[in-house]
Amino acid sequence: MILFVNACVREQSRTKQIAEYLLSILDDDIMEVKLKDTKFPMSDETFLNQREEAAASGDFHADMFAFARDFASADTVVIAAPYWDLSFPAVLKQYLEQVTVNGITFRYSEEGIPQGLCRARKLYYITTAGGPSVPVEYGYGYVRELAQSYYGIPETVLIKAEGLDIVGADVDEILEETKKKIKNQS
Ligand SMILES: Cc1cc2nc3c(=O)[nH]c(=O)nc-3n(C[C@H](O)[C@H](O)[C@H](O)COP(=O)(O)O)c2cc1C
Repeated sequence: MILFVNACVREQSRTKQIAEYLLSILDDDIMEVKLKDTKFPMSDETFLNQREEAAASGDFHADMFAFARDFASADTVVIAAPYWDLSFPAVLKQYLEQVTVNGITFRYSEEGIPQGLCRARKLYYITTAGGPSVPVEYGYGYVRELAQSYYGIPETVLIKAEGLDIVGADVDEILEETKKKIKNQS
């Protein structure tokens, strides 16, 4: 099962367009989490306490752990997130807070080092940016670190299309070039 984490906001999202192309090439069932339509619980003290109690008892059947359970059992993860303010939309951070659960997607070793519990071996991160050559360390870089250090997903792949909002940019051409790269790499 491919878990498609859709953090795209706009109806005509270019990021979503590229993600859908990738998903059409990857040959598996798709479970989509549409973040813009999702109401996330606040990570408040009650939530943190419930999470700790569950971790202590090992009972993760509550609905609040559904995001983490689905993430942990996916064979492949595809995240689509537009480039916003050097990073990604805040709703993706809310989602990752729900997914990063000690006892489901990772656990701590006796030395306090996170050990991954996720089944996926590969995570794709798709983004598009308005400007050219944008830095990716606070968006893709952050997700890559989480995937590798916490979730235990060893391979992460960045797919990006940049310069889409520059006056005169040939948006269709940029998107086609990005799709060609995806096709050649797969
Ligand atoms: C709230 C917001 C913040 C943005 N911040 C940046 C930015 O920091 N750098 C940049 O190059 N483009 C920025 N953009 C432009 C988007 O990255 C660009 O339009 C992207 O292709 C949008 O993706 P979408 O078509 O999937 O919605 C921003 C757009 C929005 C709406």
